[in-house]
Amino acid sequence: MNNKEKKIDFDFLVRENIKTMRPYSSARDEFNEINSGDMIFLDANENPFENGLNRYPDPHQKVLKEVLAKIKNVNSNNIVIGNGSDEVLDLLFRAFCEPNVDNIITLPPTYGMYGVLANLNAIENKKVLLTDDFQPNVSSILNRVNHKTKIIFLCSPNNPTGNTFLDKNIIEIVENFNGLVVIDEAYIDFSDKPSWLKKINQYPNLVIIQTLSKAYGMAGLRLGLVYASEQIITILEKIKPPYNVNSISQKLAIEKLASMKYLYEIEELKKEREKVMKALVQCKIVTEIFPSETNFILFRVDNATLQYNQFLENGIVVRNRSNDSLCRGCLRITIGTPLENEKVIELLKKLKNV
Ligand SMILES: Cc1ncc(COP(=O)(O)O)c(C=O)c1O
Repeated sequence: MNNKEKKIDFDFLVRENIKTMRPYSSARDEFNEINSGDMIFLDANENPFENGLNRYPDPHQKVLKEVLAKIKNVNSNNIVIGNGSDEVLDLLFRAFCEPNVDNIITLPPTYGMYGVLANLNAIENKKVLLTDDFQPNVSSILNRVNHKTKIIFLCSPNNPTGNTFLDKNIIEIVENFNGLVVIDEAYIDFSDKPSWLKKINQYPNLVIIQTLSKAYGMAGLRLGLVYASEQIITILEKIKPPYNVNSISQKLAIEKLASMKYLYEIEELKKEREKVMKALVQCKIVTEIFPSETNFILFRVDNATLQYNQFLENGIVVRNRSNDSLCRGCLRITIGTPLENEKVIELLKKLKNV
């Protein structure tokens, strides 16, 4: 198929109630020049006494979007910002998936929120296991698609496996599916592979999710990002709660992005990842280590519960993923500070199968 010719049928994709709904028009929507000189703002029932927080935030997060657009080299009309990725993922369900009618496809083992949100929105979650080398099983995925399948969720780099999906697998899915393909790139800044962001102009059914919670060190601010075609963005902007990103988060994110400290931290974490990886290789109780393009490493041990508890007894909390499909006996460890990793490395030398 010629990509340029790929069209998506929004009439099919968008829920009926969303097509016809009129969005809430906030005071700040109608007049948003809050800093414009000597205007008197008596339109939003705010407390007028200035304290830095008495005004509603910009519902369209204009400045933050401009900053992100510059960093990511996209147009700010291609961005939606939410209260964490979890909110923007939920918006996708609410815009495109009709409760008790439509379905989505997810690829376990993967990030748990896709399934939780499907449940919450009464959407069937068709699960198609990754292959043994943690790649999408493309033919099985396409076989499970029916006329009610609205979204396929690809997490690349994937949590908890740590790998990216091969380009040819992603392209085959994007080109042969008429619904939305969502690529969750929460960990993309830790990978040497490029983001799929630049492909949103080529594929109108492609939606990229990123977050400021991981590489950018702002999990506490709750800022999740959608990058997609303007058509998709317009729908999501229409249904999002008007003031979903508070003014402190907008302000601090702009400041922290400007400092560019994250660039140094990403490089530091990648180096630290290699150190922890080497220690895992030498560790007697580790039976398998999976390559990582993220800020965590998945590894297999004989007895995950025993080893999880040994970490805990030594004051280190890791994640036991042994109940996830294909992850029997697996623990997932996040890369910490150099000092924290030293402690992990020391412990790895001592762990035993008692
Ligand atoms: C793949 C993936 N996507 C999204 C998130 C959540 O991001 P946020 O903090 O923006 O909600 C996580 C968090 O662990 C994740 O692993």
